[in-house]
This record gives sequence, C-alpha cells and structure tokens, in this order.
Amino acid sequence: MPTAQERERMMNTPKNGKRAVITGITGQDGSYLTDLLLSKGYEVWGLVRRSSSFNTSRIDHVYQDTHEDDVRLHLMYGDLSDATSIYRLLSEADPHEVYNLAAQSHVAVSFDMAEYTGDITGLGTIRILDALRELRSEARFYQAGSSELYGKVLETPQTEETPFYPRSPYAAAKAYGFYVTRNYREAYDMFATNGILFNHESPRRGRTFVTRKVTHATASISLGLQDTVYLGNLDAKRDWGFAGDYVEAMWMMLQADKPNDYVIATGETHTVREFCELSFAEVGLPLRWEGTGLDEKGIGPNGQVLVSIDPRYFRPTEVDLLLGNPAKAERELGWKPRTSFRELVRMMVASDRASLGGTDLRRAA
Ligand code: NAP
Ligand code: GDD
Repeated sequence: MPTAQERERMMNTPKNGKRAVITGITGQDGSYLTDLLLSKGYEVWGLVRRSSSFNTSRIDHVYQDTHEDDVRLHLMYGDLSDATSIYRLLSEADPHEVYNLAAQSHVAVSFDMAEYTGDITGLGTIRILDALRELRSEARFYQAGSSELYGKVLETPQTEETPFYPRSPYAAAKAYGFYVTRNYREAYDMFATNGILFNHESPRRGRTFVTRKVTHATASISLGLQDTVYLGNLDAKRDWGFAGDYVEAMWMMLQADKPNDYVIATGETHTVREFCELSFAEVGLPLRWEGTGLDEKGIGPNGQVLVSIDPRYFRPTEVDLLLGNPAKAERELGWKPRTSFRELVRMMVASDRASLGGTDLRRAA
C-alpha cells in the first residue's frame, strides 16, 4: 500500500479536470489504476458490487467520505449483469475515460460457472459499450483483454497478429469482449481500445491465483503457520509482470492518438515450478524436486515436503505456454515493464511475510 506521504500527494494533486470510470475498482488492477489516476489529478468513479461483507479493502487507503470537501473518489453500487446500474453510473459521472476491468477473472472457476462468466466477462462489455452509445458519450473506452485469448498458442511469442485459440469459458468470454470492442470502434467510430495483457501480479493479487497462493504459503510456512502448499500443473509457463507497471500501459493506451489493440507483456516466460523455487529461496528454504507427475514433491532443506500436487487444481484444458512480445506498445506508446521477475517475487513474499507479522529477512540479514 502507498505510504501516508504518497497518499497525501495522491489525494492533493491539483485536479486535471478529467473524470474516469473504473469497473472492477475493488480488484487488483482497479486499485492500482485508481492510485495512478488520482496521482494524475483525475476524479475517479468506481462501480462496486454489493456484498454482505466489505469488499473494498484494496482501495480503503484512498476511500473518502462523501461528506468531505473536494471528493475525488466516488463509489456507486452496480453490477456488470445490470445494465441499468451501468447506465446510471456513466450518466452521472459523464467520464472522459472508461476502464472496463470488472470480470469473473478466474480461469479455473470459469469451468464451474461457465454461464455466469459469459454473462459478466463477455456480455458485461457490450452493456457498457451500449450505454456509452445511448448516452452519445465521447469517452475513451479501455477493455481488459487477456493473453488467455491465445490459449493453445499458434505462435510464440504472441503478438497482436497471433490468432486466438481460447481454452476456457473465461477465454471465450474475453474473446467476445475483444471483438465487440473492436466492432464498436469500427461501427460507431468510438475510441475503444483492447489491451491484451499477460499475467500480472502484485501483493494485491487475489490469493487463489497461483503466484499469490505460493508467496502467501511461503510466508506462512516460513513463520511456522503452515506445512505444505498444494498445487496443480507445475509445468505451465507464464509471462508474469507487475500490475503497477501494467495499469500505466492501460492509461497510455487511452492517451494515444487513435484506438488500437496492444499486447502488454515482459517478453520472459517462467514455469510455476520456477516461481516456487524463487519464492521459497526468499525465505531461506531452497527447494529440490523429487518424484514425477502426481507424486512430484518440492522438498525443503530439512527434508520437509513444502510443495505437493493436488489434481483438483488441474484444468479440463490447460494453457501450457504464454510469452508476449510487447514491441508495438513500446514503439507506439513508449511503454516498457519496469519490474523484473525476481523483484516481483521478492516484493510479494516480503509483503505476505509482513502481513503475517514476520520481518523482512533480507533487511534483517
Ligand atoms: P480481479 O482482482 O479478479 O478483480 C475483478 C474485479 O471485478 C473486482 O473488482 C470484482 O469485484 C469485479 N467484479 C467481478 N464480478 C463483477 C460483477 N458481476 N459486476 C461488477 N464487478 C464485478 O481481477 P484483476 O486481476 O484486477 O484483473 C482486472 C481485469 O483484467 C479483469 O477483467 C481480468 O479478467 C483482466 N486480466 C487480468 C490479468 C491479470 O493477470 N491480472 C491479465 C489479463 C487480463 P469484487 O472485488 O467484489 O470481487
Ligand atoms: N490458480 C492456480 N492454483 N493455478 C495453478 C495452481 C494452483 O494451485 N497450480 C498450478 N497452477 C497453474 C494453472 O494451471 C495455470 O497454468 C497457471 O498456474 C496460472 O494460473 P493462475 O494464476 O490461476 O492464472 P491464469 O494464467 O490461469 O489466469 C490469469 O492470467 C490471465 C492472463 O493470462 C488471470 O488473472 C486471468 O484473469 C488473466 O486473464
């Protein structure tokens, strides 16, 4: 989370006269994008879905009571399944920029909740685009596309020209979102842009995604609070970057002269197994691997089993390898990733240890 000083700076930047709407503001990316836009002087309007418990922990550090003077962050209840709430938000905020980040974003869950995922992650996009059209809004629109679109990849590295081969209900829903965004750009001359973002992680990542699951387990095991973490496919390869870098790319896409589609990636790929190795090494628990297939185990220095396989975490169809080429984004937007893979793992482990009451081992050393 930002320090008190950073927050102060963020909330006191002179307003730049621009309003942005963010769906998915309570998620990982929504929270980083909110920090970024507030620090640029935007007024930010977020769509929050109703929950019986608080679901705003990632944006609590910038929350403002509506009775305060000079409110810069406005939250409204709504849901991507509910066109009326989307329309209401867009008409009240009258934004210059709209970032559609809301989604049922978990690939494995999309096999269990396929229809719901299609409704939110797919049709949710058209509900926003249609509301903008009805309102005759000139807002610039960003759609959170995904490297999952490439699925069973037809080319490596993947670029904006690589054909899609979705491998899950989530990816199929994102394909719908991608194509309607492009279609509304062509049909109605809307400034509608697709980011095709490869995996990006952070200390704010949801704990059921593999990176955060591993770093949290690493921290917890290192503090004696847990014995083993159970994972699925250790051979899957992902192009992992830092979410803070990736939300800058989203903003840059909406500042470009023309709407377009951009791959955002690091250009490096690593296996889940490598991620585990780096993560446990951070807390002085180097892993060695024993066994194969379902019997493979990650063993710690004292022979303890730190990683084990649970086939429940395998997917009906897997995406084996993702590796993006972000050359177009660098050339046309001037965007480049700033955080290395090692720095990312380090940052996540340190944050998870701190959240569990542990010290930063590198500082202590
Ligand atoms: P996330 O942490 O799962 O956040 C998803 C957001 O969507 C949350 O704010 C969630 O609200 C909201 N949401 C879910 N269902 C909703 C509904 N029915 N109506 C309104 N809001 C709803 O995802 P993320 O990692 O920030 O990703 C942001 C976007 O980028 C997603 O569209 C994701 O699919 C896409 N993407 C992510 C990555 C990545 O590696 N992170 C890569 C490519 C694309 P709650 O907080 O209440 O759950
Ligand atoms: N979640 C999870 N849990 N994944 C595991 C596990 C486990 O215990 N064990 C192995 N994996 C493997 C998955 O099979 C997958 O190959 C890889 O780790 C990454 O899984 P996730 O972290 O769940 O992310 P994802 O790649 O499926 O999807 C994420 O990235 C996409 C962009 O490529 C999500 O953020 C999507 O919303 C996003 O579009």
